[in-house]
Amino acid sequence: MKTIAVLTSGGDAPGMNAAIRAVVRTGLHKGLKVMGIQRGYSGLINGEIFEMTHHSVSDIIQRGGTILKTARSEEFRTEEGRKKAVNILKAFGIDGVVVIGGDGSLQGARLLSKLGISTIGLPGTIDNDLAYTKYTIGFDTALNTVLDAINKLRDTSSSHERVSIVEVMGRNCGDLSLYAGIAGGAESVIVPEKGFTEDELCRTILEGKLRGKMHNLVILAEGVGGAEKLAKRIQGVTGIETRATILGHIQRGGSPSAFDRILASRLGAKAVELLLDGKSSRVVGIRDGKVIDDGIEEALAMETKFDDELYEIAKILSY
Ligand code: F6P
Repeated sequence: MKTIAVLTSGGDAPGMNAAIRAVVRTGLHKGLKVMGIQRGYSGLINGEIFEMTHHSVSDIIQRGGTILKTARSEEFRTEEGRKKAVNILKAFGIDGVVVIGGDGSLQGARLLSKLGISTIGLPGTIDNDLAYTKYTIGFDTALNTVLDAINKLRDTSSSHERVSIVEVMGRNCGDLSLYAGIAGGAESVIVPEKGFTEDELCRTILEGKLRGKMHNLVILAEGVGGAEKLAKRIQGVTGIETRATILGHIQRGGSPSAFDRILASRLGAKAVELLLDGKSSRVVGIRDGKVIDDGIEEALAMETKFDDELYEIAKILSY
């Protein structure tokens, strides 16, 4: 292993830069040549590759987004596209690749490793939807962004005695909503993993009002969706003014939290060590506070488990 490369792919996540920095600096420390691939798999296919130095990753640990840019590549989904990618990697003398991204990006890493390229995947997504790791890079920062929004919405909801629906990202995973709901003291958390009925929600809201609640915060995961429609329905049934706020891409940006920076640094360093040990086709993550690595096939085949216990706590505490 003489030359390695790093790329970021899919939706960006705060902490990706800290991960790039860790890969580059660990690689250089171990005497490797480190290349940066721009714009994910699409940049790889186009040969958008450059050599990185210690200086290339200066002043980025605190920055959100990704200095390597990111993209979702349709071409890489085809066999032909992947063959092109392999040829480019060979042409640049790249022996190993570190892929930082979510589920789709790590699936790409799996396919690349099937074509004989040593590949290690790092979980970078705000969604926290990868079952093999307790946390993904970016989740904690996004959670704090959502929390900040909830705190602000609580103020205005209390003043107007309104119901406030906050739609939170996470694709089909309700983790961001659940954690934000607990931390923000929300009255209801609606996630795709659990059923809910509009009637039951309206009843909970009315009962809360009768007990003297000044506001009512409903966290709605994007996997369920329909915030505006739900707001109209709640207002129609309960007679309480209701507003919907869809937080959107604001959740993807911002300076990464200390937790995400440290996680990214640990996982980035581990990825390089694995490549140097001759390992391939693996993903790194965190379980019980320890950095772990798993086979990419098994890791990506694992089903995500929703934290029912935490969900119950959220319900009890929201009374
Ligand atoms: O995977 C991260 C994520 O922000 C999801 O939570 C969301 O469903 C999706 O990406 C949005 O994708 P895009 O950036 O393409 O709008």
